[in-house]
Amino acid sequence: MSAFVEVPLEKCYRLTNSGPVIVVSAGDGNRVSACPVAWYHSHSDAPPQFLLTLAGSHLTSELALASGYLAIGIPTADLADKVLYLGSVSGHEEDKLTRLGLKVVSGQSHPSVPVLTDLAAFMECAVLKVLDEDLILVEALRAEARVGALGEDSVWNQQAFPTLHHLGGKSFGVLNNRLDVKAAKVGQ
Ligand SMILES: Cc1cc2nc3c(=O)[nH]c(=O)nc-3n(C[C@H](O)[C@H](O)[C@H](O)COP(=O)(O)O)c2cc1C
Repeated sequence: MSAFVEVPLEKCYRLTNSGPVIVVSAGDGNRVSACPVAWYHSHSDAPPQFLLTLAGSHLTSELALASGYLAIGIPTADLADKVLYLGSVSGHEEDKLTRLGLKVVSGQSHPSVPVLTDLAAFMECAVLKVLDEDLILVEALRAEARVGALGEDSVWNQQAFPTLHHLGGKSFGVLNNRLDVKAAKVGQ
């Protein structure tokens, strides 16, 4: 019997879903919405740019494109039920943030960046390019993390601030151990 089984193509994205779920928030001066996003990646570290798959039908996307700004927040595991709610109901239907009692303040880089202060960290971002209806390139203008979330080595403190990693559907994982690794010695 083979040690491998075939993964259906429509589920193969779940093999790579290990980065922390982010919460993207955006507003237009009147409305604010926020939604979890699992599909994103770092595009550049200097300047800090990110590619987000954010469906054009989401209110968060509509507000981000209207204002030209959004915030990327990092939620911790204690907020998992609220993150799932943000991802299950659209701001087109109700004011989710008020409903959940999540606090929003204006970002310092631009008043149109709504920052969710219940999260462990956030980046205030400008929308650089809309590459496709569902794919946008953003650049972080400033960022803040809770005291102790990033160690002196700039490594995230998973013990104190466990991030949420989407495994699929309503399932999330948290990372328990930090591994500081030395590369394998080969050819000796
Ligand atoms: C864990 C999780 C991850 C999600 N990841 C994404 C994503 O990567 N891209 C996306 O467009 N929608 C994603 N969604 C769906 C949106 O968050 C969801 O449709 C949300 O209700 C949209 O809200 P809005 O209309 O207020 O913006 C995700 C939902 C959950 C629960």
